Amino acid sequence: MHGVRTGRQGRGAVGAGVLNAKQAGSAGRGEPAGFDGFPRRDGHLWSEGVPLSAIAATAGTPAYVYSAGAMRAQYQRLTTALSAGGVPYRIHYSAKANSSGAVLRLLRELGAGVDIVSGGELFRALRAGMTGADVVFSGVGKTEREMAEALEAGVLLVNVESEGELRTLDQVAGRLNRGAAPVALRINPEVTVETPHPYTRTGERGMKFGIPYDEALAIARLALSLRNVRLVGLDMHVGSQVSQLDPYTLGIAKLLEVADAARRAGANELRYLDIGGGLAVTYDDEDAADVEAFARAVSALVAPSGMTLLVEPGRFLVGNAGILLARVLFRKRSGGKEYVITDAGMNDLLRPSHYQAFHKIEAVAPASGRSVVDVVGPVCESGDFFALDREMEHVQPGDLIAVRSAGAYGFVMASTYNSRPRAAEVLVDGGRFAVVTEREHYQDLVRQEPDSPVWRSV
Ligand code: LLP
Repeated sequence: MHGVRTGRQGRGAVGAGVLNAKQAGSAGRGEPAGFDGFPRRDGHLWSEGVPLSAIAATAGTPAYVYSAGAMRAQYQRLTTALSAGGVPYRIHYSAKANSSGAVLRLLRELGAGVDIVSGGELFRALRAGMTGADVVFSGVGKTEREMAEALEAGVLLVNVESEGELRTLDQVAGRLNRGAAPVALRINPEVTVETPHPYTRTGERGMKFGIPYDEALAIARLALSLRNVRLVGLDMHVGSQVSQLDPYTLGIAKLLEVADAARRAGANELRYLDIGGGLAVTYDDEDAADVEAFARAVSALVAPSGMTLLVEPGRFLVGNAGILLARVLFRKRSGGKEYVITDAGMNDLLRPSHYQAFHKIEAVAPASGRSVVDVVGPVCESGDFFALDREMEHVQPGDLIAVRSAGAYGFVMASTYNSRPRAAEVLVDGGRFAVVTEREHYQDLVRQEPDSPVWRSV
């Protein structure tokens, strides 16, 4: 029996501190309220004002399709909620969720900064028109080269995760001689975090992320003693697809205790409190995150500290603004099961295989009848599936399907496994669409392989 559906486990438990819309009495279930980037018209699935069939005809399949309007609506929802909170705030979009240049540009135009975790993401952010001041540099393992690149770009913050990293950053900044590096300490708040999969929890005791809570003050003192760093912030990131409020409120309270103690120890430049990303979106029929309740609660906690609130949402801004468009190649039966085989595979969208994540799958054109199927890809792995034992429209070979909620952690986690060129990315805005990332060609698969490698002896 396949039937793994752990993607549904993250549905918020009912109780105090649950971060969902139903509890707060605001708009209901399903897709984010306000704007559906993928409406159905006369039975056919569109993206905004463009039929998905037209996009498939132009861009081919598999293709990621993103709705600009859906991203704008989510950004607007977050800024409205945070503005109502009354504390100064900054939104640093977590580029790892979807680092397509077109998406970064769109969010920059809306006023977002960016949260990066690598030199490559810094490169992409700058290329999309962000400046250093728009950038927060997170990540558990930064190289000296990446540190230097970030400091040369003049990033707003380097979120430091260990004593070793702090000392190395101090040395790198000393060598560069461009002034002290602006540092926030990423502290592991060591709270209980519920997410659909253990891989997406980061703020629990003993994890690789952040400075262990009981060492935070000592490292803050160390930062104050080093010449080439300036301690300007504290940071946490508790996890991803977090549907509860408690990890944030408990975590913020713990960070503010460190802030108080650090200020008493002489940290008089502390002004940023970065609470990371993680806001959950709707994949199935679970309640959407109540971002208004989130903003109210975190703002109230942060206000007395006088600090500027930083948030690093990724999935919340782009998750439901994207789909993976694929074509059915074959249907077949085996051992009493029925398979729908598509031209997209786990190399294109890894989440179902890697996290047993649930993604809705819909026929793009109306199909007659329904059946229970495994929707699988062409990759030579039994783990190559998008859905198991799923009841859906009875799609036929040649039909298009849309895998929903693929705007975050979709294309960015794609690989060329099985030597499958990576898919195209398409952005839709109103009645127009553009291919913003060309589909890879076979030649791209071997681009880095010299015809005649240079052999060296040592
Ligand atoms: N900030 C930091 C430091 C992070 O590590 C992350 C995500 C975020 C912000 C953004 O989190 P979000 O708002 O998107 O939840 N591949 C997984 C998710 C991994 C998230 C890693 N860190 C998935 O497909 O569910």
